[in-house]
Amino acid sequence: MPDGLNTGGDSKLPRSTTEDDITTAVLARFAATPDPRLKEIMLGLIKHMHAFVKEVELTEAEWFRAIEILTEAGKMCSDKRQEFILFSDTLGVSMVVDLLDHRKPEGATESTVFGPFHRLGSPDLPPGGNIAHRDTVGIPTLVSGRVLDLDGNPIAGALLDVWQTQSNGLYDSQDKNPSELHMRGKFRSDAEGRYLIRTVRPVNYPIPSDGPVGAMLKATGRHPMRPAHIHFVVMADGYEPVTTHIFDRTDPYLESDAVFAVKESLICDFTRHEVPPPQAAALGIVGPVLAADFDFVLKPADTAVQVDVLDAQRRLAALGARG
Ligand code: BEZ
Ligand code: FE
Repeated sequence: MPDGLNTGGDSKLPRSTTEDDITTAVLARFAATPDPRLKEIMLGLIKHMHAFVKEVELTEAEWFRAIEILTEAGKMCSDKRQEFILFSDTLGVSMVVDLLDHRKPEGATESTVFGPFHRLGSPDLPPGGNIAHRDTVGIPTLVSGRVLDLDGNPIAGALLDVWQTQSNGLYDSQDKNPSELHMRGKFRSDAEGRYLIRTVRPVNYPIPSDGPVGAMLKATGRHPMRPAHIHFVVMADGYEPVTTHIFDRTDPYLESDAVFAVKESLICDFTRHEVPPPQAAALGIVGPVLAADFDFVLKPADTAVQVDVLDAQRRLAALGARG
């Protein structure tokens, strides 16, 4: 027996007779976990997992099928694909964690899922820079607004990391040649907190559904669609970064997002102008253009939280990063 390990302490071997006896014995075995947070998590996990198995009277065949599904999910994961994030998102777990871990004061921009398609290394672009330079089919769209603090003061020099699908509903990492970055950019707010992004109209699109998550959606009668949106991480020194989206108000999937990520405060009007307004004309846009206006409001950071959030984003980004 390895030195220093808790043997359970019982002199007689327990004879588990009922399923509840087993739960009690397993909980006792974890009771001496030294790290209090790990102990809380492990005891909670065991209690709820055992209760779930008992509630649905899980059969051995069903348990084995679950293990097969998790194995398939693991095998699908690569630098381009994160099936476990898709499971977490489609089961609503990501949004529950998001709500618990990123509580925002009244007025601050709400967060939503990070998703699996963020990439490191997107280009720094000037105000009005076009993230959709290769997309020739989408309607030119300008997204503008300000980055503000909770009192409405501008935050200058905030970083806006933006990503979106192409008009075909695919992220660049899902393209045949995924090494080229597209529909991504990093923008900075100016002295008045203003930012300006050129893109194309976001479209609704299905999350990847050719793996175990897709099979689960199909078997449970769910669709894989996400409403049209643009992703943002907005950060500035001294403020808590916010990972969020803006959504197109006219999208038919707002009520049934496959990943439960829509919040009312993130829904935005993409207004069509047949004649480009001066800001669009100045960027060389000639035909019809859409304009969306959205202000991001950041809450001051508690330093420990800021490090945690950034660390989580880097770890998530690294799971799907392609350099
Ligand atoms: C996305 O919006 O990119 C996304 C979010 C969650 C799951 C799949 C995709
Ligand atoms: Fe997305």
